[in-house]
Amino acid sequence: MSDIAYVNGAYVPLEDAKISILDRGFLFADGVYEVAAVIDGKLIDNEAHIARLERSLGELRLESPVSMAEIVEIEKALVARNSVTEGMVYLQMTRGAAERDFSFPKGVTPTLVGFAQKKNILASPYAGKGIKVVTVPDLRWARRDIKSVALLAQVLAKQAATEAGCQEAWMVDSDGFVTEGSSSTAFIVTGTGAIVTRPNSAAILPGCTRRSAMALAQERGLTIEERAFTVAEAYDAAEAFLTSASNLVLPIVSIDGRPLSDGSPGPHARRLRALYLDFARATAV
Ligand code: PDD
Repeated sequence: MSDIAYVNGAYVPLEDAKISILDRGFLFADGVYEVAAVIDGKLIDNEAHIARLERSLGELRLESPVSMAEIVEIEKALVARNSVTEGMVYLQMTRGAAERDFSFPKGVTPTLVGFAQKKNILASPYAGKGIKVVTVPDLRWARRDIKSVALLAQVLAKQAATEAGCQEAWMVDSDGFVTEGSSSTAFIVTGTGAIVTRPNSAAILPGCTRRSAMALAQERGLTIEERAFTVAEAYDAAEAFLTSASNLVLPIVSIDGRPLSDGSPGPHARRLRALYLDFARATAV
């Protein structure tokens, strides 16, 4: 974990990084966050993360006390001050601390906090062997395109995965279609080699890694179908994989205990991981 965190303009040791119990992030989950990967001490795909942060803030009418350029400087400072060469940087902005009242408080400055985490992203043990996924009902609200800190449904989903001996949960809407992973975008590859993922809408978070991975796939002439897919179609898929800032591209080798193809990571997932890594390193800042 971070030794040094950022809290409202100051870099402080983690144990001194504190916010009010009246903070609306704590009381109402009235806030948004972003997570960007760090490789070679640099931020990965960060322009997309900052653009999404700005959009999330706008959707919640949360006015940032600092510019997006300053936020990038905070991210870089957290990486440097914590000597993170590989891992993640986390930022969260809430509507601030105010007497508890559901509607927006007046004249309150938003809270901005951040920290960094070291993590083996390149040498992830799951890159070689793939991960297992379990499906769960999607219990979330109707604005999943906003990267809100209201993550209780995702917490329950990931816990179900952990208890099932899996590493990720795919959430499923009431019509039987997969929305996304608890903290990742969901993909399958059909028997004819088409990469299928749900189109962006209010039903899912528009993944930054998804966007770049799809652009790379398209540049290589791979077929992409942006459409929803059912759990039944996923069971029969040739391959599956996920994308996220914290795991980049990871192959999925089984869903609900059913192995996909021969139960080993598929060629599309392996190729896209390699392509994404090259892209990430070439464009890191
Ligand atoms: N989660 N869908 C959900 C619900 C997510 O929480 C995430 C990311 C993604 C992938 O988005 P991106 O490629 O931009 O990271 C999709 C982050 C990593 C987290 O909460 O830790």
